[in-house]
This record gives sequence, structure tokens and C-alpha cells, in this order.
Amino acid sequence: NRIFIPEVFFTNNCLTGEDVIKSTRVLGELDGIFGDRQAFDGMDKDQVIYQVSSYLPVLENTPGGLFMGITTLYPGKVGSEFFMTKGHFHSNSDRAEFYWGVEGEGMLILMNEQREVWAERIFPGSLHYIPGKVAHRVANTGYQKLVFSACWPSDAGHDYATISAAGFAQRLIDVNGVPTLV
Ligand code: PA5
Ligand code: NI
Repeated sequence: NRIFIPEVFFTNNCLTGEDVIKSTRVLGELDGIFGDRQAFDGMDKDQVIYQVSSYLPVLENTPGGLFMGITTLYPGKVGSEFFMTKGHFHSNSDRAEFYWGVEGEGMLILMNEQREVWAERIFPGSLHYIPGKVAHRVANTGYQKLVFSACWPSDAGHDYATISAAGFAQRLIDVNGVPTLV
């Protein structure tokens, strides 16, 4: 009998361990995704919008494997549009993904290939199945940090180019304190 201690830990709503990769997105890297150009231009481009800690136990593109990540998305707005992740389709477009809410509140914004947009509320304990061929992005609609976790196939890949070029068909805007898709 061989007994091992895990090498990666899910503590303090973050992944830790030797094999965990951490990445940070600052506002400057999100150029073009927010609608209000004037508001964007007036903001600090070095401010951190979100951080992702991920555990990739197999090589990228391995068929049949799984990856896991935890994203911390900070609160704020560009004009009246909530801070959000870049958003992507999967490169292997039919690959699905789970998201689940851990801390704070937000909205998962989804768009299919027909560019139909819908959204699901994210809160601690909410679980979200993102089918294949559905682009996904998350907005923080609260006043505290939003933490959510994700699990996706290791051969999914990230297609950012399609969203960079055409965006989502709707934006999540603060309309008199109510997050609204417009
Ligand atoms: O795998 C995912 O979909 C998530 O882990 C995202 O990559 C993460 O939330 C960051 O968003 P994006 O990749 O759109 O910048
Ligand atoms: Ni994804």
C-alpha cells in the first residue's frame, strides 16, 4: 500500500502548491473589450483586474485530461460596465466546462455561435455548466472580490481571437444599480 499527500491545495479560495501557475491580467491587457473608450483611457492601465491560479496536471491538448483554475475578479467598472474577464470560446469548440461560485457575486455571460447572449447569476455555491460552442465571460457585479472556480478538458484550448474581433453581442451595464444586459 502506498499513501501519498496531495501536492496541490484548495485553501483560502486559491490553489497553492508547486505545480500551480498564477497569472494576472491588468486593465491595459483588456484594451478594446469595454464599451466606454473615454472612461477606459482615463483609468490606470496597471491596475489588476483579475488573477487566475491554475493546476494543469497534464500537458495542454492531452485528450481526456482535466484542468482546474480559480479566478479572483476585482470589483469596479469602466464607465457603467462591470469589470470582466476577456472571455473566450474553446479552440476545440465543442469542449464544455464547469464554473462554480466561491465568493462574492457576479454574472456569467454566455453567447452561442448564433451570437445569442444570456447570463447566469454567480454566488457562493452556484454551479454552471457551460456547453461546448458557447463563449463565456464573467463580470463582477458586487462591491467585493468575486472568486469562482473552473474545470475544463485539457484539450479545450482558449480561442480569444473571435471575441477580440467581434466581442459579445450584449454588454452587462449598471443601470441605476441593476446589472442589465444591453
Ligand atoms: O478556463 C476558463 O474558462 C477560466 O479559467 C478562464 O480562463 C478565467 O476565468 C479567465 O478568463 P479568460 O480566460 O477569459 O481571460
Ligand atoms: Ni473556458
